[in-house]
Amino acid sequence: MSPRTSAAAGAPEEAYTAEPFVPERGGLPALRRAAAECRGCPLHLNATQTVFGAGDADARVMLVGEQPGDQEDRQGKPFVGPAGRLLDRALAEAGIDPDETYVTNAVKHFKFTQAEPRKRRIHKAPSLREMTACGPWLAAELAVVEPELIVVLGATAGKALLGSSFRVGEVRGTVLEREIHGRPERLVPTVHPSSVLRAQDDEDRKAAYGGLVADLKVAARALG
Ligand code: URA
Ligand code: SF4
Repeated sequence: MSPRTSAAAGAPEEAYTAEPFVPERGGLPALRRAAAECRGCPLHLNATQTVFGAGDADARVMLVGEQPGDQEDRQGKPFVGPAGRLLDRALAEAGIDPDETYVTNAVKHFKFTQAEPRKRRIHKAPSLREMTACGPWLAAELAVVEPELIVVLGATAGKALLGSSFRVGEVRGTVLEREIHGRPERLVPTVHPSSVLRAQDDEDRKAAYGGLVADLKVAARALG
């Protein structure tokens, strides 16, 4: 029988959290400045910079994605790459004014794999631990912006806001009412715009894009 050392028993994993970095006052400018210095989980080590949310504090709609992609990591702004361009087009088609939106992500640093230095950086899904660590930033954004509606873009945003049992296929295109961080929120989940870009062929892509626009129209109607 092997002796049970404390290491073998497994010391609890150190919790990753952004909590100590989040300022209590100062609105979006203070949050953005502080988030630039966040060391709440290891994702800051390899990414270029924090990609905080963008938009006005009085925006009516908050759109929540997964995490910055390659372009977002380089430019420091959310949804400025291919997925963002597709999202803007779909929003316009659904009748949602991009100027009335606040756009952000569940996780604020780009997670990727790279075969060799200077090779293409390939997106890697954030873990539940990283999503949980970054949650205080999203909670702080919600508290400041107080949106009338949250558009949940895909599974990661859904899990971050609604818990790990979230399944986008079960609730997409419907208006959910949930208490989140002590506030009653209305949410419309839909697919992530990147999933439209990943479609196998033109026909699938058209169908996936049509589905995204249809869900965003539900959000537009809910806003009135
Ligand atoms: N995908 C996301 O989820 N967010 C971005 O900002 C860009 C791509
Ligand atoms: Fe902080 Fe979020 Fe970046 Fe992790 S991913 S270091 S919690 S901002």
